Amino acid sequence: MSKDKLIIFDTTLRDGEQSPGASMTKDEKVRIAKALEKMHVDVIEAGFPIASDGDFEAVKAVAAAVKTSTICGLARALEKDIVRAGNALAMAESSRIHTFIATSPIHMKMKLRMEPDAVLEQAVAAVKMARKFTDDVEFSPEDAGRSDIDFLCRVVEAVIAAGATTINIPDTVGYNIPHQFGQLIATLIERIPNSDKAVFSVHCHNDLGLAVGNSLSAILNGARQVECTVNGLGERAGNASLEEIVMAVRTRQDVFACDTTLDATQIVPCSRLVSGITGFPVQPNKAIVGANAFAHESGIHQDGILKSRETYEIMRAQDVGWSNNRMVLGKHSGRNAFKNRLKELSIELNSEQELNEAFSRFKELADKKHEIFDEDLRAIIADTNWSTENEHFKLVSLKVCSETGEIPHANMVLEIGGKEVPASASGGGPVDAAFRAIETVVNSETQLQLYSVNNITSGTDAQGEVTVRLEKNGRIVSGQGADTDIVIASANAYINALNKLNKVNDREHPQLGDV
Ligand code: KIV
Ligand code: ZN
Repeated sequence: MSKDKLIIFDTTLRDGEQSPGASMTKDEKVRIAKALEKMHVDVIEAGFPIASDGDFEAVKAVAAAVKTSTICGLARALEKDIVRAGNALAMAESSRIHTFIATSPIHMKMKLRMEPDAVLEQAVAAVKMARKFTDDVEFSPEDAGRSDIDFLCRVVEAVIAAGATTINIPDTVGYNIPHQFGQLIATLIERIPNSDKAVFSVHCHNDLGLAVGNSLSAILNGARQVECTVNGLGERAGNASLEEIVMAVRTRQDVFACDTTLDATQIVPCSRLVSGITGFPVQPNKAIVGANAFAHESGIHQDGILKSRETYEIMRAQDVGWSNNRMVLGKHSGRNAFKNRLKELSIELNSEQELNEAFSRFKELADKKHEIFDEDLRAIIADTNWSTENEHFKLVSLKVCSETGEIPHANMVLEIGGKEVPASASGGGPVDAAFRAIETVVNSETQLQLYSVNNITSGTDAQGEVTVRLEKNGRIVSGQGADTDIVIASANAYINALNKLNKVNDREHPQLGDV
């Protein structure tokens, strides 16, 4: 018997971006969107076009760049939002408008200050308006997880009659418990007379750590679209994680009556890309994409694995895109070998210039570190991407002195707007000295919120991948850098964050919670 298709709706670029500090530039969004397309995600929610001119432009750019996934734009149930979303999506091969209005008593009374009948009327009008732009219209009764079931049934029936083709049931505040949320989906499908005219979808938040559990329970009860994000990124505790849902459904085909068409081998590369761009590290014990997800430490487990992999492994690491992390290239490897390995790793560069730059970084690295692993190559490419975009500030050179009994001191040359500027400062440690030196000439008035270093491969000659999160007037940005010298990686990460902050803050328009 053939299985139903489970539609994978990824909202990393919209709900994921709502995590404080995870904001992405237009180019970064396009890069992630292309990786999602390559992974065969069915629907990509690219942003909330009314939120800012930047969001509008990003949705437009994603709509133009992606060919095979449907591109979706979010809109409140308001004419101006829907028109803005429709315009942003005009270039898409396949487009969807996702409109929403809250239906829970607390949201209607306290946030919207509207009577239920008026909410229903506005929902219907919004769906009809969205249908003027596309036949693919999704409606979400926001905070459905805390809405009155009779009212929810009335709203959903009415919006389906008005032309909604997908009904998304959000557990906006992550309040539901799996058996209860599954039951909610089953009840809606059973009670709503025209439920067969729409695909039922779910969108779960992780406030109680139940987003994936609730989503899977909904799928078992008839949901055929699931909204999720790479690495579970999203508002507060995040959204349901794409990789966990996809692999749960795929691994337990004995339990689920549906399957996805996702290319799971793209999961790890995509996770790395999102983590690198947003600066949100993946915890080592995170299912599927954490560094330890397939590591077996205990002797009993290792012995079992050697005798038969299935004793302790329910999935194969390579099926979700983990490479063998084998030594691939060395300092004598040529440009062609480098290019071929990137191809094997499904890493695409946009131009010959990017390839040349990445190759020269590879050569520099090979001089310092004789074993170059796949993970090193990924870091080189990420670093090339981080540092080529909108570089108002650049690190030209850096020298740090750190000696027992002496105060560390950094001397550097920065390029600011094309002009070389010397800078120096002392600090509590070499990284502190480097950051202080940068600040003597940039004077950014930012607060450092996070500084973290992860080694990309093992060994003391491994590259350190540094994330720096800076805050200024409520705006948070993350910067990244990678190098075998962690002080240089740190300075580059700091400069990368400053470059992002330097971009005009164009978020003057309504945000998701606004009414
Ligand atoms: O969490 C939520 O309710 C949302 C909606 C816009 C679907 O993100
Ligand atoms: Zn959400």
